[in-house]
Amino acid sequence: MNIVNVDYDGLIPNNVGLGSDVRVKRALEKWHPGYINWWNDMGPDGFQSSLVYLRTAISVDPKGWAKFDYVKMPDYRWGILLAPQQEGRKVNFGAHKGEPAWQEVPGEYRAMLRRLVVIQGDTEPASVEQQRHLGKTAPSLYDMRNLFQVNVEEGRHLWAMVYLLHKYFGTEGRDEADALLERRSGDADTPRMLGAFNEKTPDWLSFFMFTYFTDRDGKMQLEAQAQSGFDPLSRTCRFMLTEEAHHMFVGETGVTRIVQKTCEAMKDAGIDDPNDIEKVRKLGVIDLPTIQKKLNMHCSLSLDLFGNEISTNAANAYHSGLKGRFREDRLDDDHTLESSTYPVTRLKDGKIVMEDTPALSSLNMRLRDDYLKDCSLGIGRWNKTIEATGVKFELKLPHQAFHRQIGEFSKIKADPAGVIMSDGEWDKKRNDFLPSDGDRDYIESLMQPEVEPGKFAGWIAPPKVGIDNKPGDFEYVKLA
Ligand SMILES: [Fe+2]
Ligand SMILES: [Fe+2]
Repeated sequence: MNIVNVDYDGLIPNNVGLGSDVRVKRALEKWHPGYINWWNDMGPDGFQSSLVYLRTAISVDPKGWAKFDYVKMPDYRWGILLAPQQEGRKVNFGAHKGEPAWQEVPGEYRAMLRRLVVIQGDTEPASVEQQRHLGKTAPSLYDMRNLFQVNVEEGRHLWAMVYLLHKYFGTEGRDEADALLERRSGDADTPRMLGAFNEKTPDWLSFFMFTYFTDRDGKMQLEAQAQSGFDPLSRTCRFMLTEEAHHMFVGETGVTRIVQKTCEAMKDAGIDDPNDIEKVRKLGVIDLPTIQKKLNMHCSLSLDLFGNEISTNAANAYHSGLKGRFREDRLDDDHTLESSTYPVTRLKDGKIVMEDTPALSSLNMRLRDDYLKDCSLGIGRWNKTIEATGVKFELKLPHQAFHRQIGEFSKIKADPAGVIMSDGEWDKKRNDFLPSDGDRDYIESLMQPEVEPGKFAGWIAPPKVGIDNKPGDFEYVKLA
């Protein structure tokens, strides 16, 4: 079997030898119609028969894994692609460190592993549901195409997790795969499993912030699971990371282009004060303080995805060799963490303090710290964009204690700088920190579609280069 090339002959493109795995092939073929129904019901609203210039994975060779072409989204070839198996790969952390990586699920870890796969799987269709209305207000065909690219790839990520469930987890896996198509983002009775995936993504600034912050949580989780001793999970996550990079590119460059447009418009109009919101809004661009509020919201929601500060589940998943640290294979320590500690930001006697905590139980925080480091790189680049225009304003990451629903800081109120405040003070200042109804209404008023090739809505700058090196006026979506 040539693992690098993908078998495109059957219903489900794959590089896992599905042709000779009759049981799993049948199970997935049975799941397929439900998936297509879900896509038609919950995927991009109003664009299912448009031709979209999309990339499809045709290989797992890092040098040339994708091919670009026009495709109707329901005809997209969602496939199962695992990164190539590495000869002699070992479990590289936890109690089983040094043992050969598992090709089958270790019996004693079955339930824990299934839960990891289901939680990861649940986020994939959730974001498609959250973003399903955005096509109608796309600021350009370029942006519309990027949205749909992210959406079809989240669909493929669902396939990736569903394959693991069917292949390795028997009837329980099958039931979980069915349930992944039944939950709905934001539904009162059957919501998605994690909070941030039940929030609305009402406008394009939210979409870019979501792909910047929340897809980056996805990246961190995939990185940690790419280290897994369970080899099929590791391999599938490694390939998903290839696609994930584009999602964060969409987020980062989206915000860059908004910030750039705002600052340029201010300069042209001779407005020096970024806080003069009324004047800035008259220009039809999004003022920087409102961008900061959206940033505060999406960052804080995404921090919740890392779970509790101190977590036995995280300790168990590491100890068992199922979920590692960010770039575990590049870290230089004992990789068992039995006797080491890690400094965690905690709430003690009503104060925010740093406390050395057993390293195993603080793994969620370590991953979250790595995440915040990763987040801050793009914020630095956004600030460079602002600086280059001469506008005086700095975007900042909010403090970890700000606006939290999960973990120790959910018990208190703190401002974006991490200063603890009373509930009363919070109520008075909330709209300085997070988007108000008025901010939302203003942004919504800007969300008018621009569907002429090469044109962009007035609140966002064009990208520096096209997708697949296409020229500026390329018709990325042929509307139908
Ligand atoms: Fe994903
Ligand atoms: Fe993603």
